Amino acid sequence: MSNFNLDQKYILNTYKRLPIEIKKGRGSYLYDIHNKKYLDMYAGIAVSSLGHHHPKIIKAIKKQSKDHLHLSNYFVFKSSSLLAQKLVEHSFASKVFFTNSGTEAIEAALKLVRKYGKSINASKTKVIALDEAFHGRTYGGLSLTGQPKYQEAFKPLVPDIIHIERNNIKALEQVVSSDVCAIFIEMIQGESGIQSLSDEFIEAISKYSIKHEILVVADEIQTGLLRTGKLFAYEHTNLTPDLLTLAKSLGGGLPLGALLVSKKLENVLKPGDHGTTFGGNPLSCATGLAVINELTKPEMILDVYKKSGYLFEQLKSIKNKYPIISEIRGSGLMIGIEVGDKALEIQQKALELGVLLNVTNQTVIRLLPPLNIQRKELDEFINIFENVLKTI
Ligand SMILES: Cc1ncc(COP(=O)(O)O)c(C=O)c1O
Repeated sequence: MSNFNLDQKYILNTYKRLPIEIKKGRGSYLYDIHNKKYLDMYAGIAVSSLGHHHPKIIKAIKKQSKDHLHLSNYFVFKSSSLLAQKLVEHSFASKVFFTNSGTEAIEAALKLVRKYGKSINASKTKVIALDEAFHGRTYGGLSLTGQPKYQEAFKPLVPDIIHIERNNIKALEQVVSSDVCAIFIEMIQGESGIQSLSDEFIEAISKYSIKHEILVVADEIQTGLLRTGKLFAYEHTNLTPDLLTLAKSLGGGLPLGALLVSKKLENVLKPGDHGTTFGGNPLSCATGLAVINELTKPEMILDVYKKSGYLFEQLKSIKNKYPIISEIRGSGLMIGIEVGDKALEIQQKALELGVLLNVTNQTVIRLLPPLNIQRKELDEFINIFENVLKTI
């Protein structure tokens, strides 16, 4: 039986599979079982930020697997302590809780902010989140996600979560009060098509969070770790969050998420309040350390900055030629190209020509290439993308 048939027969039908079967990945390319090469312009949806089969990640896996793979959370181990130290040294945070995934980092954040809120007053349990946000698929993450299409079938959701329109300061003013313990935001909403929060809205969040003692949780699961051109997207703004969630590229392809918390929150959760069997496992943290060591190199940061400028420039000149593109948005190497109802056709044609494109929110081509993609690979993408647009 082919892998497609096996998949169809034995795996729950929750994903739309592509019609190709991948054998291996190297750098910015994936190779299918017929050895056809594909330029990967979304890097496993922002996971493989150092490309595929990065030598430092492979080395970390080999080295760690010689010692142990799993110990249980009764033991301390070096890779997780060192990774936490790195995350703290490069952010506002003072401590870290590791998870296996993004949605679990969100769950940890939700539990922590509720406990903190209740320590101030018993009714401080309300949480604000934004329309069109995406925070994950478990019940906490799903309840914070501001997209009815993901929620309707699974109600009732976690209570006391209020959604307001992104960038609507009036709506924010109507819901803030001393009964709100936290607001969850993505500086750039990825799933909903690369939509940024405005400076004014971020400023308002900052103001009301101080006034009403509301914790700000930055979900940087997609924007974090240099994706937007800075190590964390909040660094582009004047707002420093109280908590921050990470996942995706953190584990370099292994499952790893993290919740970072500020000094004042480091003692909210006590032993027994929260935990996970696999979260922050030694192997994932070893690869995480390799990832963070690469992503914090000054030359890497400069390189992403330059490539982002180049890619935006090229895309803008394409936009001038092809009116099908109505907008190009984003920051760093997290870019949305608005193409209306042609998105799936563009994706399909690009696939035939050996470029993997991701479509989100039906009308947006979402670019999340490896951060170490080469300039000539960006040129290859631009050429093929333009060739595809010519045929639409
Ligand atoms: C901003 C954001 N938050 C949360 C999640 C959920 O992460 P995971 O799929 O690892 O649970 C995602 C995943 O796409 C995301 O982009």
